[in-house]
Amino acid sequence: MSDNFDVKLEKKSYLPEYSYRDNSWIGEYEPAYQRFLDDPERFWSEIAHELEWMQPWDNVMEWEHPYAKWFTNAKLNITCNCLDRHVNGDKRNKVALMWRGEDELHERVLTYRQLHAQVMRFANALKGLGVKKGDAVCLYMPFVPEHVVAILACARIGAVHSIVYGGFGADALNSRIRDANAKVVITADVSYRRGKTIMLKSIVDEAVTHAPCVEKVVVLKRTDLNIELMPEKEVDFYEIMASADPVCEPEVMDAEDPLFILYTSGTTGKPKGIVHTCGGYMVGTYYTTKYVFDMKDSDVHWCTADPGWITGHSYIVYGPLSTGATVLISETVPDYPDPGIWWKTIEDIGVTIFYTAPTSIRMFMKYGEEWPEKYNLDSLRILGSVGEPLNPEAFEWYYRKIGKAKCPIIDTWWQTETGMHMLATLVGDKMKPGFTGKPIPGVIADVVDKDGNPCAPGIGGLLVIKAPWPSMMRTIHNDDERYRQYWNTVGNYYTAGDLAVKDEDGYIMVIGRSDDVIIVAGHNLGTAEVESALVSQEAVAEAAVIGKPDPVKGQSVKAFVTLCVGYKPSDALKNDLIYNVRMSLGPIAMPSEIEFVDSLPKTRSGKIMRRVLKAKEMGLDPGDISTLED
Ligand code: WTA
Repeated sequence: MSDNFDVKLEKKSYLPEYSYRDNSWIGEYEPAYQRFLDDPERFWSEIAHELEWMQPWDNVMEWEHPYAKWFTNAKLNITCNCLDRHVNGDKRNKVALMWRGEDELHERVLTYRQLHAQVMRFANALKGLGVKKGDAVCLYMPFVPEHVVAILACARIGAVHSIVYGGFGADALNSRIRDANAKVVITADVSYRRGKTIMLKSIVDEAVTHAPCVEKVVVLKRTDLNIELMPEKEVDFYEIMASADPVCEPEVMDAEDPLFILYTSGTTGKPKGIVHTCGGYMVGTYYTTKYVFDMKDSDVHWCTADPGWITGHSYIVYGPLSTGATVLISETVPDYPDPGIWWKTIEDIGVTIFYTAPTSIRMFMKYGEEWPEKYNLDSLRILGSVGEPLNPEAFEWYYRKIGKAKCPIIDTWWQTETGMHMLATLVGDKMKPGFTGKPIPGVIADVVDKDGNPCAPGIGGLLVIKAPWPSMMRTIHNDDERYRQYWNTVGNYYTAGDLAVKDEDGYIMVIGRSDDVIIVAGHNLGTAEVESALVSQEAVAEAAVIGKPDPVKGQSVKAFVTLCVGYKPSDALKNDLIYNVRMSLGPIAMPSEIEFVDSLPKTRSGKIMRRVLKAKEMGLDPGDISTLED
């Protein structure tokens, strides 16, 4: 497989002066990678030494397959690195967070000092509700500064946050609350999307009804709707903050104490609660923000993800704040009130590093270049991409129309499970559209066959990571067996669940998932989760869901459904089924197509063969169907 579009520009000709990497730190790719290979522990320890610890580590890493411990016995609190270090250093009055609502008249700015103060107060407020180190707190919030305050407040007192994306429905929220055993849920009365008001609180009301673990619900009031709070259970965000002490000493955390749980879709109906720990995650996100994004003091960083996804955790909150960056957060969607809103935001604020998903870029391509052309995007110096393959057409458009052929495109491959960037093309390195890039220094990755043997260049295989890294997940909450499967499926390697291919230079092209996960507009959906939402409806006997290529969203959901006796296919029934999936899982899981069928292809042991449905749908050869029942 060759690179069909190679940006054949010498780096000096396309990188503006100021985007050169500061070589005094880790340095250029090749020598940095070699230094890592020569002595991995030294490599990571040098990076970790840039951060503040309450007590140093005994060992950088201890590995007993498939369990890793990083920075053993070290003590820290990640918020000291994200906040105190800057407040006590030279960034007290530097802007930490800049927020823009859907309406540009709504803007808020928090300096590091202000953010620190709010986090400490809210941390004390949580303590006042009885939250202690190790307790789980669920956040289901709109993207406002208080969301970031709540995240860091949990980390301050050692509570384990579990953020649930505000676009999920009540059932999805309920199952995540119960799995994490959350004691407190933090939410808001409403969120805004495309000018519409979404009643978040009523979704929470429904979700906590069958979640006895929840003792308190904290409600941020954004409107004067005057939602009544139940006095014994519900409290007002700012009221509990107003009566809290202003100073909250950071909880002393062991490097291996959990920092958060984040649910991601898997191949069963039950989402996986990925567990990340304090020390390794801090080092991994700090390192990659600084190295992969080449973060400088003067940068204004805008990652368009939501905190409900790992990208938001790592590259809105922990990574950028630990480097002391100025972070823009915004509640906007790409095309409301018009498709120029993001470009206008970049011009107004002077964003320098912009990190988004291919699905947004493809949506912008559809609207046309006249939208970005209306605005001055000269402040940009680095463009990032994450979430799914950045196809060469989208790459070229992003590079030319947004970056004006002067900004490197940093495509980053990683996962909720990996915590940090794993593969990327670094600033100054040759870009190959379609290819994510190489494993970054610190990461040993390869493309292998199912027995673990490396595939020759051009031959597709499974993407694996061959050695532990600091921000790797430590387990899956309540399901360690599922964690072990990641490391026991192909040799002794970590299997990512992605198909990939390598070229002669070691660049890796990620093709897509090798399992039953569908990525719709950058959001992971497990086929089983959507199927069980369909089957839970009276009319449905069985359901099978596949991902179908979509020019903008990457993939869309198509469902095949068999009906129970007494029900007949109709458009009204289709709409009902779609509506019910929306209510239970949220709009991101809505099938865009439903086909009623008489039966589903199954193996003799009764497993639905989605592969066969997909091949048929796409007019392709279904491959080996010897196990097909009929
Ligand atoms: C896919 C998001 C191609 C991949 C950070 C992975 C990508 C899954 C890329 C993880 C990329 C992510 N190129 N595919 N640059 N980045 N993916 O857990 O299939 O939401 O396994 O983490 O997204 O999605 P997750």
